[in-house]
Amino acid sequence: MGYFCIPSSQQLPRSNSLLKRLFLLASLLSLQLQVLGHGVVESEQYPLVVSTWPFLEAVRAAWRAVDGGSSAVNAVVDGCAACEELRCDGTVGPGGSPDENGETTIDALVMDGSTMEVGAVGAMRYVKDGIKAARLVMQHTEHTLLVGEKASEFAISMGLPGPTDLSSKESINKWAKWKESKCQPNFRKNVLPINSCGPYHPSPTNSLEHPEEICSNTVQMQTMNSFLPHVGLHSHDTISMAVIDKMGHIAVGTSTNGATFKIPGRVGDGPIVGSSAYGDSEVGACCATGDGDVMMRFLPCYQVVESMRLGMEPKLAARDAIARIARKFPNFVGAVVAVNKTGAHAGACHGWTFKYSVRSPAMADVEVFTVLP
Ligand SMILES: *[C@@H]1O[C@H](CO)[C@@H](O)[C@H](O)[C@H]1NC(C)=O
Repeated sequence: MGYFCIPSSQQLPRSNSLLKRLFLLASLLSLQLQVLGHGVVESEQYPLVVSTWPFLEAVRAAWRAVDGGSSAVNAVVDGCAACEELRCDGTVGPGGSPDENGETTIDALVMDGSTMEVGAVGAMRYVKDGIKAARLVMQHTEHTLLVGEKASEFAISMGLPGPTDLSSKESINKWAKWKESKCQPNFRKNVLPINSCGPYHPSPTNSLEHPEEICSNTVQMQTMNSFLPHVGLHSHDTISMAVIDKMGHIAVGTSTNGATFKIPGRVGDGPIVGSSAYGDSEVGACCATGDGDVMMRFLPCYQVVESMRLGMEPKLAARDAIARIARKFPNFVGAVVAVNKTGAHAGACHGWTFKYSVRSPAMADVEVFTVLP
């Protein structure tokens, strides 16, 4: 929206200036109609902020921005940045989710659903402002995703504070306890040793000389993994947010410090466009959260938006995206929220009860919606 295609005069036949004028007139008329049509919807539905989980302060921050006339992109950044500062749930921003080495890293993404520009950082170290770093990648580079130490160098060189120690007393304590309990649970599979800390080696049952054991072992490990308490309820809580601004432009953003006790170097769904979030101002947006390692294989948010493009209602699109994953990974834990461009929203989830937050002009404050699996 907002991109009205008025052909430049070079593209029209120079010889026929009447045709040219008629064409221009038609373009201007359709422009005016679209703007008017928009205004009607605007008064009821826009602006709109939708976020995973009851991250009330984040939604309020985004709402203040977008209600005050900010662009969708800037409102999404304000909203996610509020969550980073508040360290929502300990899983967004600095000071949470230590990896196997006790270090906290940041994953974040921002997408402009009108230009389809995306900026993201993965496994960023020493810089706490994930979503602002993502916006710097989007607005000041031709790239989409920067990772690791180089992402931090870029962010600092472009003016963000750092280098900063991203661990906190809580994250260090959590990690120390995990080390004491022999690094259990963890994200390794088909390795030795099974019941203690590393260094790890591929388990010999994976050798091609014993193909029959590969299968039984894999099944056993996956079953074990799906019951590990950390793969689920509190270690994958990403903020994923969608905003429709007063112009009807859509933007989405995410920020997370990833899975607790992840293997260093792991990047989850957070900075993967189409997985944790996706938006297209012509269609709508989607936010996702959950077991990112599984979900990123299905690009569930891309799926949701494309289903809506083909005419699916938000509720069906959300359920369909979740069902596609559940068919292959019945034990996965995750959720998506679908929002269409007129502001209708719906969630779907699997393996847990999911909540998401919404603020619209019809609401006095943020409202929290609960979705049952
Ligand atoms: C958005 O979804 C609502 C509810 O399903 C539907 O009534 C409306 O027509 C949809 N809007 C668009 C533009 O598809």
